[in-house]
Amino acid sequence: MTLRYRLIAFDTAHLPELTDLWITAWTKAMPAIDFESRRTWFVDHLIAMRDRGVDVICAFDAANGTMAGFVTLDSKSGHIDQLAVAPTYWAKGAALSLIDEAKRRSPRLLKLEVNQDNPRAARFYEREGFTRRAASANPVSGLKTWRYEWAQN
Ligand SMILES: CC(C)(COP(=O)(O)OP(=O)(O)OC[C@H]1O[C@@H](n2cnc3c(N)ncnc32)[C@H](O)[C@@H]1OP(=O)(O)O)[C@@H](O)C(=O)NCCC(=O)NCCS
Repeated sequence: MTLRYRLIAFDTAHLPELTDLWITAWTKAMPAIDFESRRTWFVDHLIAMRDRGVDVICAFDAANGTMAGFVTLDSKSGHIDQLAVAPTYWAKGAALSLIDEAKRRSPRLLKLEVNQDNPRAARFYEREGFTRRAASANPVSGLKTWRYEWAQN
């Protein structure tokens, strides 16, 4: 089922809803990790990205105004550091609308890393035309990742 979303630039007023969404989405994707304990890290990380010019784009359910997900995009490099969708909006087109917006803003290249233990995200990116490039590791968690890239044909 695909719903309609309004894409809006992040505002500080969105921070509590966005942070709860990030924790809920990641807890569902990787339940063995305590994402609640990373709340302060995440808030500081997001605000630091925003302050250095990274786009933070939020998708709101057009029917009821609920935040469905968000993506961060450094449009100079094409790097996506964060993409998260609330579990109630999984498989409902929110992630697609966010990644399509990232492609529109960075039409030459997008790049990101996916945890190797996160097959849903890997499948999502592969379905949306991303190519697996190399194995890597997350510098914060040490977890193994895959590097993915998308480039317009
Ligand atoms: C990653 C994320 C943004 C994708 O959004 P989504 O709405 O769940 O994505 P979709 O439902 O459109 O696509 C998921 C795909 O994975 C498939 N899938 C679901 N569970 C799977 C699993 N365990 N293994 C493999 N594929 C799986 C789905 O069937 C679907 O593929 P299909 O359309 O070919 O059937 C969202 O799941 C999320 O926020 N996850 C937590 C945070 C995260 O992982 N962020 C990305 C980090 S790089």
